Amino acid sequence: MLIAHLSDLHIRPFGLPANRVVETNMMAERAVRQLARLAPAAVVITGDLTDSGEIEEYAELRRLLEGRLGCPIYVVPGNHDHRGHCRTALATWPGVTCDPAFVQYTADIGDLRLIMLDSVVPGAGHGELCPRRLAFLEAALMAAADRPVLIGLHHPPLMTGIAAMDAIALRAPEAFLALVGRHSQVKAVLCGHHHRVIIGQHGGAMLLAAPAVGGHQSELTFEADARAYFHLEPGGYFVLRWDRPQGLTATLATIGDFPGPFPFTVEPGYPGRPADQVG
Ligand SMILES: [Fe+2]
Ligand SMILES: [Fe+2]
Repeated sequence: MLIAHLSDLHIRPFGLPANRVVETNMMAERAVRQLARLAPAAVVITGDLTDSGEIEEYAELRRLLEGRLGCPIYVVPGNHDHRGHCRTALATWPGVTCDPAFVQYTADIGDLRLIMLDSVVPGAGHGELCPRRLAFLEAALMAAADRPVLIGLHHPPLMTGIAAMDAIALRAPEAFLALVGRHSQVKAVLCGHHHRVIIGQHGGAMLLAAPAVGGHQSELTFEADARAYFHLEPGGYFVLRWDRPQGLTATLATIGDFPGPFPFTVEPGYPGRPADQVG
């Protein structure tokens, strides 16, 4: 079973770029075309659905995604979103209005249980999970004790060494990580926000930060005083493959059309040459 994990679409009103130079809507359109061919069982989008949280941007998001993928789309907001506008504009999307205050809910994808968490602090770049949201997570984990679990939220609960990103990560993640550590059925924590592929682990769970679909990836620097810049590196997303008994794998997909496919051809003297390869 395949699940597409996307993040940070940063959709703008029709025809407008993000940050003056990033054609985020175009990248989302290209991603949707790729996903339609991939035919995943579900698409999980971990926040920054829009760039400014404007109603017009959510309308554009709906125009780009609705009815085109043939599978459920599960979303949570990010710091660039407006929770209220997200709840109103995406009220018909699964789970979005399940909770009266936050965009948090559970869903089943095959035998996997997905737990989506709202880590947004209105007006702030960093994320938090207040006691009410942590209580929701704990109850959801208890209710799925016998099922493999994926957790989705916008803000990564890990330090990366990229100063500008660490400053706005999930604040005080200890309680969240303690819950993940106590529940060995959690296979992965899916995040975004950092606009770069970052892979960590906690207990038996992969911690995955997806790149930005929008195509503006954060500068790769480990200098302690570095400010936040981005580069127009290609957008991408994770393709998660769930297979019993092996478990979960994550493959990075790059958005775009590239030359190929070319066959792998090797010289006759190549020691690993397959016996059935001719020429
Ligand atoms: Fe973002
Ligand atoms: Fe973000």
